[in-house]
Amino acid sequence: MRVLVTGATGYIGGRLLPLLLARGHRVRALVRDPDRAAGAPWSSDVDVVAGDVLEPASLGSALDGVDLAYYLIHSMGAGGDFAERDRRAAASFAAAARAASCHVVYLGGLVPAGEVLSKHLASRAEVGAVLREGCDATELRAGPVIGSGSASFEMVRYLTERLPLMVAPRWIRNPVQPIAVDDVLSYLLEAGEGRPGGTIDVGADVLTFRSMMEVYAEVRGLRRIILPVPVLAPGLAARWVGLVTPIPNRLAVPLIEGVLQPVIADTSRARRLYPHVEPLPYREAVRRALDETVSGAVITRWSDALGRPGPRALEEREGLVREVRAADVAAPPEVVYRVFSGLGADRGWPAWSWAWRLRGLLDRLAGGPGLRRGRRHPDELRVGEAVDFWRAELVQPPERLRLRAEMRLPGRAWLQWDARGQGEGTRLVQTAYFAPRGLPGLLYWYGLYPAHAVIFGGLVRAIARRAERLAGEEDRL
Ligand SMILES: NC(=O)c1ccc[n+]([C@@H]2O[C@H](COP(=O)([O-])OP(=O)(O)OC[C@H]3O[C@@H](n4cnc5c(N)ncnc54)[C@H](OP(=O)(O)O)[C@@H]3O)[C@@H](O)[C@H]2O)c1
Repeated sequence: MRVLVTGATGYIGGRLLPLLLARGHRVRALVRDPDRAAGAPWSSDVDVVAGDVLEPASLGSALDGVDLAYYLIHSMGAGGDFAERDRRAAASFAAAARAASCHVVYLGGLVPAGEVLSKHLASRAEVGAVLREGCDATELRAGPVIGSGSASFEMVRYLTERLPLMVAPRWIRNPVQPIAVDDVLSYLLEAGEGRPGGTIDVGADVLTFRSMMEVYAEVRGLRRIILPVPVLAPGLAARWVGLVTPIPNRLAVPLIEGVLQPVIADTSRARRLYPHVEPLPYREAVRRALDETVSGAVITRWSDALGRPGPRALEEREGLVREVRAADVAAPPEVVYRVFSGLGADRGWPAWSWAWRLRGLLDRLAGGPGLRRGRRHPDELRVGEAVDFWRAELVQPPERLRLRAEMRLPGRAWLQWDARGQGEGTRLVQTAYFAPRGLPGLLYWYGLYPAHAVIFGGLVRAIARRAERLAGEEDRL
């Protein structure tokens, strides 16, 4: 089959794509920024087309000749009126899919029976309805998805790991029905191979959000005490999640809204239509997600999607200021590259690490991501992946890496390293770029220049030292 995957840079789409290829399908990926797809492991095996579901003109060619299209998109991360955007996007996509006579498979959220839906759940359900009315569509509905790097799993993981004693609202006793990401993917594959099937709930065992944390604690051998309190407003709970876990408020709100009401899947249709998918019990899903997290085998992560169309890449233009530092390093470029491309998350930012942590804290207070996003993998880095408050914009091993700042700034900033072979060693050049926005931008840059000079100088020297140490260790082996 010819298959189109939308949301290929997202958590679910990025995992589905290799499975479709393994099944022998011819796959096309619709992405807003093709440069980001270029870094994905599947990039050379798929046909990448640039498109935006909010721009109907880009959809005709993307769907041309396609038998099956996966709709794995939402725009909650872009803020504002996401419901209106997602409705418009679904309507455009449905019209284009109908014109192409293709089957659309959409993954939405479980809908609590007979309850008033939260804004987020209502929007997910509305997208499903728009697609089903506008074209031949199958809507799979899932609750919290448990997998390495998934937002639900990371929320449970960080809350349980970090809080030995938890004061939690009463609604954590509501029944919920999580599902392992591998099972979601199996259902998506099965649904794509079947006929358009309306709505199909999927889920594994029923438990409560409280027991999701308790089971996690058991699997990890942790003793945790959870004390229920009569009230804790969902908005406050989302802020608390934002404080304790890496999950930002914009993602924590829909996750919490998803467990505020009892949400149980009616899995009878799924069992009948796809009898050989046997959903993994929650405990096993946690074990698997933990194993992958510990072994660094996280394929995609909640922080992969940009959420909004990517900002322009670095370009030379008037007013762009730069801070250039260089060092001669007694180590080959491959080793130097490994060091600067492995910075951030648990390894932190060397030299003046307290200043980086303070910058992260200030950024969080200002509403930015701070350092909490970490990174998907300690060593691997692909274009578009988050690294603390940066995002990888240019990844060219073993020569060049450019990170784009996503911290709150009065302007736009990048940090780039170039490693050029020089005899037996490397000439390492580190360039910080800043495109100031008006007077506040200039005041920021020049006001902090002395501090930046010290920090950036320390950074390039620390990279050089680390690379030399690493090269020495490798020589001794
Ligand atoms: N992950 C879960 O736990 C979970 C649970 C239940 C249901 N679901 C459903 O599964 C689907 C996929 O979720 P996900 O977690 O994979 O989302 P995600 O990681 O946030 O990815 C969203 C994807 O949508 C793309 N996108 C957003 N706006 C777009 C636009 N206007 N045009 C083209 N692409 C656009 C993003 O591209 P950029 O990278 O360019 O931003 C990204 O690839 C959603 O329908 C969600 O409701 C997910």
